[in-house]
Amino acid sequence: MFANPDFNIFHDAGTLIVLCTKPSSTFVEADCWLAAENLMLAACALGLGSCVIGSAVAALNTLQIKDKLGIPAEFSAVVPIILGVPNGETNATPRNEPIVLAQVQ
Ligand SMILES: Cc1cc2nc3c(=O)[nH]c(=O)nc-3n(C[C@H](O)[C@H](O)[C@H](O)COP(=O)(O)O)c2cc1C
Repeated sequence: MFANPDFNIFHDAGTLIVLCTKPSSTFVEADCWLAAENLMLAACALGLGSCVIGSAVAALNTLQIKDKLGIPAEFSAVVPIILGVPNGETNATPRNEPIVLAQVQ
């Protein structure tokens, strides 16, 4: 996919939001993922589509790309999310049953 010049890692979305953090405490990355979930739910409520682009994280954390995007060197990109107007309806994804490890009565 990456070798194909027509492949757009960001799926031609108009907006990329990169949640970044400084390594200041144990749970800063978890905070980013929680914020990401809220952001994606808010986008959905506004009729926008969103998608986490994990495959962009390594590139976003290179000095060259950080510099280009204005991400200070001491910050790390954790969650890239694209936003855009959906290009049509998307069918719901089938879900596996959750594995319940214990039930308290
Ligand atoms: C950590 C993480 C990384 C992801 N990285 C990518 C990515 O690089 N490119 C992409 O198109 N989708 C990416 N996705 C989106 C998933 O492929 C999938 O579409 C999304 O999780 C929705 O899942 P569902 O179809 O089961 O609802 C990522 C999702 C997560 C949670």
